[in-house]
Formats: sequence, C-alpha cells, structure tokens
Amino acid sequence: MKLSVIGCGYLGAVHASAMAELGHDVIGIDVDAAKIGRLAEGQAPFFEPGLSEVLTSAMKSGRLRFSTDMADVAGAQVHFIAVGTPQKPGSHAADLRFVDAAITALLPHLSVGDLVVGKSTVPVGTAARLAEVIAASGTGASLAWNPEFLREGFAVKDTISPDRLVYGVPSGEAGKHAQALLNQVYATAIAAETPLVVTDYATAELVKVSANAFLATKISFINAMAEIAEVSGADVTQLADAIGFDSRIGRRFLNAGVGFGGGCLPKDIRAFTARAEELGRGESVAFLKEVDAINLRRRQRVVDLTVSALGARAYGRKVAVLGLSFKPHSDDVRDSPALDVAVQLHGLGAEVVATDPQAIDNSRARHPQLTYAVGIEETLRGADAVVLVTEWPEFRAIDPAWAASIVRTPTVIDGRNTLDATAWRAAGWTYHGLGRP
Ligand code: UDX
Repeated sequence: MKLSVIGCGYLGAVHASAMAELGHDVIGIDVDAAKIGRLAEGQAPFFEPGLSEVLTSAMKSGRLRFSTDMADVAGAQVHFIAVGTPQKPGSHAADLRFVDAAITALLPHLSVGDLVVGKSTVPVGTAARLAEVIAASGTGASLAWNPEFLREGFAVKDTISPDRLVYGVPSGEAGKHAQALLNQVYATAIAAETPLVVTDYATAELVKVSANAFLATKISFINAMAEIAEVSGADVTQLADAIGFDSRIGRRFLNAGVGFGGGCLPKDIRAFTARAEELGRGESVAFLKEVDAINLRRRQRVVDLTVSALGARAYGRKVAVLGLSFKPHSDDVRDSPALDVAVQLHGLGAEVVATDPQAIDNSRARHPQLTYAVGIEETLRGADAVVLVTEWPEFRAIDPAWAASIVRTPTVIDGRNTLDATAWRAAGWTYHGLGRP
C-alpha cells in the first residue's frame, strides 16, 4: 500500500521505517528539515535499537522516502498522524497544536476514499472533532484512531509485532472502509492473529491514556510501598516478588526506584486529569495526581539519600551519576528522573559528573551546566558518592571491587534497586537502595 506518515519523531520515524520493512511504500513527512535530512541519508535521528537497520534496509528497497513537502503525500491512500502532543506550557493539558497543524496541512492533499489515521496520544474527544474538520473539507476522506503502544527501546519490535491492535472507526460504511484499509496496512500482524479491538473513536483514545495511567499507577503503587518500607524496615524488592507471584497482580512494572519519566507516562497522566476535569469528572481520576506526586517524591528521596550519605553536606563533593536517559536502551531525556536528580544535586553545590551510554548529547543540550564524562572509570574517579539512576546493563555489570578502588568513598545509592547489594557490601561499599533496609 502507499502510506504517508506525518511527523517523524520517536513514533513516526519508527512507524514509517517499520511499515516500509513490512512491504508498504511509505513517505515520511516532517517540518524539521534537519531531521528529514538525516532520515533521507538513512541515519536515525535518535538512538533506538534496530532502527538504523530497518531504516537502511527500507531505504535500499526504495520503498521509503522522506520529505518536508506535504504535497509529496500525493498517491498515498492512508495517512498516519504521528506528531507530538506535549504538555502545554503552564498547564497540565495536552498541546494539540501539532496535530491540528498536521491535519490543516494535509487537507488540501486528500482525495476521495483516503483514510487519515491518528496515532498520536490525544485527549478523548479529539478524534470526533477532527472527523468533523475532515468531513467539512469536502475531500471525501475519513478518519480512524489507531493508538500506538510502542515502548522506547523496543519500538521497532513493538511496531512490527504489536501485542494488540486498536481501531477507533466511525459507524456504518465509513467504518467498514476504514477497517478494511487498516487490515491491509497491518496484514502481517493480522495474519499472526494479533488481538484486534475495533471500536469507536472515544474508546480508542481512552484505551491509550488508560493503559498509560494504569502502568503509571502500578509503578507509583510499588513506590508508595517503598516509602512505607523505608519507615518500617521492610524490603520492597522482596515484597514486589512476593505479590508479583499472584498472577492477578504480576511482577512486571513493580520495580521500585527513582520512578517513571519519558515522553509519555508523565504528560499523559497529567493530560488525562486535565481532560477529565474539562468533562466534569475530575474526581474519577483524581488519584492520578497522587500517582504523579508519589513519582516526583522518589526523585527527591534519591537526592536526600545522597546528601545524607555525604554527611549532610553536598557542597564541593564529587558525585558520580550513572545514567541520564529516562530508561535504558534510549537516549531520551524528556522528563528523565535521572537527569533531574543530577541537576538537583548540582543545584545543591555538588560537583556532579554524569555519564550515560547514549544520552549525553541530549542532556548537555538541556543542561550544559553539568559535567559529562564518557566512560564509567572517568565518572567514578575520586567520587564521594555514586548514584545509579538508569539501569543500563553496563552499569549493572560494574565490578564493585574495581569500582571501590577508584572512588574516594565507597558509597552507592542504587536508585533502581538493580545492583547486587550483597556483592557491593562484600566489596566494602555502603549500599543504599530505595525502600530497602
Ligand atoms: C510507555 C508505555 O509502556 C508504552 O506502551 C506507551 O506507548 C508509551 O509510554 P515508554 O515511555 O517507552 O513506554 O517506557 P516504559 O517502558 O513504559 O517505562 C516508563 C518509565 O517507567 C521509565 O522511566 C521506567 O524506568 C519506569 N519504570 C518502569 C519503573 O520505574 N518501574 C518499573 O517497574 C517499570
């Protein structure tokens, strides 16, 4: 099929490349000329495992092109909207200006029978509003909402083999037409019997935000238990293992630590709260404010533990920060707890030296005041405290005896509860976990 993908960020670049890999003919559009320039040369504009490979192979096949000119969508029958919906400055609501701009720019290029497919995460009610805009344009095109559940770090795999497909479609013939086209787009996943939910716009929009709200709640739940463990002497990691054996609960997303970040969970729960308030049902999701508050307290807890490990004086002390990205296998530092901790410690006068396998450039662009080191040894040398805030495999693999010989004081704050506490203590370290004695 001939497809267009409007917006080539984390979501769109991966979607465009994966769709071409699956055999479709794809044009990726973005207003950012630098980004399109890199993509057109077959270079991934950000770090995402496997993206460079699919991008290169799709470009070679001739099935994938990139452009800044919306007119180049001509010939495509299905147009994916994959632009960002960030948090509005000064508000918790989602900023829909990029979605609106994409639709406005796309309208003149739509033909009868074309399908516009929203993938961006939007407040419930957005699709119905956009469907009216498209209907009023008289182009004969229609709209479907097809939320994306990809996880950064696994984005290519999640796009090629999703764990479910959700189509929000209009009723009647238009809905059947939309479903038929989407089934063609996702023919490979459909053939693999991927679960499919065909529903209305509002449900499709809510599936996405409620999934993220659930995941955020699960993480904040275990982090709340960590807070209780801290005042009662319990160990939250053992508690998570024990409750996780209950298959109704499950062990995944029960890792207590410095909390969640990234471009989705934090802003999505805030936008959900703002939208529910607009709809007069703020109380239904008021608990998400608590989820957010618990999450933000965990960053403060890591900072407080570090300062107390330094004898209540951070000023002038060298703190080695391991990790900057919001999670491993990503260079994304949007709302990253790791970067936030580094910045807070710097603000308290500590001499912060931070490292990350992928996220140094993005961190430096936002926080040039921090000192960044490439390599673990340089980061650790002479440190008065070591703070692990992103659980990259290379940090987990650090030999505690070797590390103890490099730092000034062998004190580690494990903000992800990911190190082997027994082994680190045996190597002479004072080990502090989160929610662990
Ligand atoms: C998330 C959703 O998982 C995905 O379905 C959606 O499409 C986009 O948002 P992503 O932001 O890539 O994906 O990251 P995810 O793997 O969900 O992790 C989110 C954050 O939670 C990370 O900062 C991670 O470190 C943290 N986390 C995760 C925990 O603190 N504890 C856990 O047990 C799991």
